Amino acid sequence: MTVPFILDTDTAQDDCVALIGGLLDPEADLRAITMVAGNVSFDRQVHNAQMTLSAAGRLGTVPIHLGCQRPLVLPWVSAENVHGDGSGGLDMDFAGTSTEAEHGVDALIRLTAESPGEISVVAIGPLTNIAMAAVKEPDFVRNVKSLVIMGGSNNGRGNITAAGEFNFFVDPHAAHVVFEAGFRDVTVVPWAPLTLSDAVFSRAQLSRIEAIGTPLAKFFLTVCGPTLTFDESVGIPGTTHPDSLSVGVLLHPELVTKAADYHVAVEMSSALTRGYSAMSWGVHGLEPNARVIEAADAEGFYGWITGLLATRTEVSRPLSGGHFY
Ligand code: BDR
Ligand code: CA
Repeated sequence: MTVPFILDTDTAQDDCVALIGGLLDPEADLRAITMVAGNVSFDRQVHNAQMTLSAAGRLGTVPIHLGCQRPLVLPWVSAENVHGDGSGGLDMDFAGTSTEAEHGVDALIRLTAESPGEISVVAIGPLTNIAMAAVKEPDFVRNVKSLVIMGGSNNGRGNITAAGEFNFFVDPHAAHVVFEAGFRDVTVVPWAPLTLSDAVFSRAQLSRIEAIGTPLAKFFLTVCGPTLTFDESVGIPGTTHPDSLSVGVLLHPELVTKAADYHVAVEMSSALTRGYSAMSWGVHGLEPNARVIEAADAEGFYGWITGLLATRTEVSRPLSGGHFY
């Protein structure tokens, strides 16, 4: 049985890798891509998604719906300093490519309503679309089978500020709405400590990916190159993969080696701790609203990614440019 899901994404770097998982894993039944404002310019995110579809030989086979183009309350903040253009300078002829007329928020509501309780959502960008869908149509909350959220830190360090992880920092109000909405099955893939301990690929591991030699492996290395440079500049020994881990744990729950129930609340008003996720572990009298992943099978995750990258794909359209890492 395959796993039907929608990927809500601000497509750049590891979002592309997450998309590859959704496209090529035999367990995956990716019904739609919904785009949200986050990492890089909105148009570039769409192009990054289209180039990933092309690299996987799947351009035109999964609908792309454009969602919210700014956070709910605050001005949009991007992460070009981390991701560059989000795909390592790759380019493609986009003539004739198209996106859906239906807005991403409406697509989330409609698709989950058509199959109530059957479709999961993996949200790997700011939570603006998910919050909007929950506010616009309360049934959305009941219709989503499970929601996997990449964001926050488990009482640990942020990445855009000392306290704030990027996705929650960009739209803390949306994150607040989502954690208060009452989704029945919420899983959080945090930045720290989880990503930094179990979802970093070292240069040695990247060299092994290079040795795979497929066009998809080269695509991966090209797309991840700018982030490798950034990550190393801040002391992280490799490329970071929280978004692809989020898809990985939906499709392969056995990748989770430790998780616990928490009450997650997100700071909205403090300038100093904007987007901070307070994860209460059960001793403060608060009802749990999420399962937070505390540890993952790092080798198993790397093996899952390398297996995907070994897939022989025929690009839908040629990709050009790109600064190989
Ligand atoms: C998150 O922010 C983005 O830069 C990544 O794609 C990931 O979703 C990590 O903080
Ligand atoms: Ca992302």
